[in-house]
Formats: sequence, structure tokens, C-alpha cells
Amino acid sequence: MRILVTGAAGFIGSALARRLIEEKYEVVTVDNLSTGKMQNIPKDCKSYIGNVFDSSIIGELKNYNFEAIFHIAGQSSGEISFDEPVYDLQTNAQSTLMLLNLAKETGCKKFIYTSSMSVYGDHKEEFVNEESYTSPKSFYAVGKLASENYMKIYSTFDIKCTVLRLFNVYGIGQNMENLKQGMLSIYLAQAIKNKHIVVKGSKDRFRDFVNVNDVVEAMVLALNSEKTNSNFEIYNVSNSKKYTVEELVYKIKNNLPYNVTVEYIKGTPGDQHGIYGDNTKIKNELNWQSQTNFDEGIAEMVKWAIQREEK
Ligand SMILES: NC(=O)c1ccc[n+]([C@@H]2O[C@H](COP(=O)([O-])OP(=O)(O)OC[C@H]3O[C@@H](n4cnc5c(N)ncnc54)[C@H](O)[C@@H]3O)[C@@H](O)[C@H]2O)c1
Repeated sequence: MRILVTGAAGFIGSALARRLIEEKYEVVTVDNLSTGKMQNIPKDCKSYIGNVFDSSIIGELKNYNFEAIFHIAGQSSGEISFDEPVYDLQTNAQSTLMLLNLAKETGCKKFIYTSSMSVYGDHKEEFVNEESYTSPKSFYAVGKLASENYMKIYSTFDIKCTVLRLFNVYGIGQNMENLKQGMLSIYLAQAIKNKHIVVKGSKDRFRDFVNVNDVVEAMVLALNSEKTNSNFEIYNVSNSKKYTVEELVYKIKNNLPYNVTVEYIKGTPGDQHGIYGDNTKIKNELNWQSQTNFDEGIAEMVKWAIQREEK
């Protein structure tokens, strides 16, 4: 079975590609290496280096018959989307439309997309489920929501479309150089490099963290799902637990063998105060269960990040 995984040079895409290759799938990827690294792409993965919205690359992909498309590549920082909104639209929304069209033209019947909890924006009721209203606060979130809506239309063309709304993903392999994406990785990278963490925004903001291994499991379950009564489903991929920025910083500091100072400065545009995700639907319908305890997950990641720095 042949599968397209866009963004396999990145954190989540590379983890999924490795897992699919282990399961004997043939994996093809497209990545422009903007935040991903060539060495992250598994060696058995056929790769196209370039933009996922490049029509010549999409043309090349028409030569394959993909059983499924995982669209994971994308600009994944809300903050950066304010600097380059047009690029954000191309990379996060136009790309989805072009890949959905590829699926339609080539008879690919499954399309799975990594959307984001950012589509919800801020809510009075902080615990959100898939029926909660969406209210994007950043260009990034607008692009993610547009992609979801394109999928809803393409699902009527007999393509099974699954939206995974990822909450804050963390874990081994996360990009420790990108200081604009990934709350835990940003603070951890600063703590290790400078023994000083600069937090942009309030310490009372909060997030729902989910380990990358659990995210990969959700993706594989979505791929194999036998659910047939609907061609379009949205799932929160979350732990249904909230941690404030202050708690997170404490947990990071607690795992380091030296003292780390913390400074709070002005926030970034479009940042959400906090929501956390009800994961009842993915548990009931895909049989997903988070396997990673947050404290253990952080401890493991800190250990990995320190070893990586020492190399
Ligand atoms: N990490 C999270 O907490 C999180 C949360 C919600 C949603 N997501 C989504 O999951 C996906 C993967 O995120 P990640 O954390 O692995 O980020 P990442 O930056 O590590 O991976 C993204 C990959 O896509 C590639 N890419 C970016 N723009 C591209 C383009 N135009 N053409 C081809 N390749 C391109 C990058 O080089 C990189 O390899 C993204 O779509 C992101 O929006 C991530």
C-alpha cells in the first residue's frame, strides 16, 4: 500500500512516516525543508523537495496511486502567520485544496489532515468539543479552518476525509531550533541554551499537551478506521487536561539539574489564552487512548534534549 505523507522532514510527519514504513507501507513525501530537516526523512521514503503547493510537484504525484494522503506539511506558527499571511494561505490552505484535487483525480479514497486546536480560538467554556464553534484568531488558524471546509466539500466526492485537530504536540524529535513554534520545545530550548526562559505572554495562559507518539497512533487509527456512516469526521487529539504556562515552566525547570530564571514579556498577536479539548469522540469512535503520562513525557523529552545538546 502506497501512502503520501507531506512534511516527513518535520516533527510529526517524520514520526508518522517511520511508523508507516515499519508497518510495510511504501511512503512518499513532499517537504520544502523550511523547518524540517533532510535527515529526518526516513531513508526508505521517496522524497520530493519543494513546496507542497507547487503544481509541478503535484503533477509528479499524479503518477502514483496513493491509498491515502496524510497532509501534514505546513507553516505551523500562528506568530509567523502574521508576518507572512499570503504565504501562510498558500502553504496551509491552497496546498490542501490542491492535494484534495489530486486525490479526486487519481481515485485516492482517504485524506487525513493535521488541523489545529487554534481553529476554536478563545471560548468562555474552556473545554471544547468538535461541536463547539470555531473562531480563528490568527491567519494560521484561518488557513486550517479553510482546509477543513475544503475537505468537507471533497468528502462529498467519495473521499473519506478525517480532520485531526491536534492540541499542543510535544515529544522527542521536536524542532529545538524553531523558537516560534511549540510551547514546550521553545521554553526547553531556551532553558538548556541560556538557563533563562523568556515567556511571551501571560503565565496564566494554559494548554492541553499531547505526546507525538499518541498523535501518530491517532493517525494510524484514522487510516484504518472502518467507520462508514460518514465521509467527513473531525476529532480532537488531546488529553483533556489543562496546564498553565506557569505549571509547564515549573515542570521543565524541575527536570533540569541547574537553576533556570524566567522572564515574562508581552504576548504575540493571535495567541489564545487557553482551551482544552474534550477527547470523548476519538476515544469512542477510533478507540484511541493516550498512553503517555505528561510528567513522564516531559522527563523523557528533557533527557533527550540535553543529550542532543551535548553531542
Ligand atoms: N506541533 C504542534 O503542536 C501542532 C499542533 C497543531 C497542528 N499541528 C500541525 O501539524 C503539522 C506538523 O507540525 P510539526 O509540529 O511537525 O511542524 P514541523 O515544522 O516540524 O513540520 C512541518 C513540515 O512541513 C514542511 N513544510 C512547511 N511548509 C511546507 C511547504 N509549503 N511545502 C512543503 N513542505 C513544507 C516543513 O519543512 C516541515 O518539515 C502542521 O501542519 C501543523 O500545523 C502541529
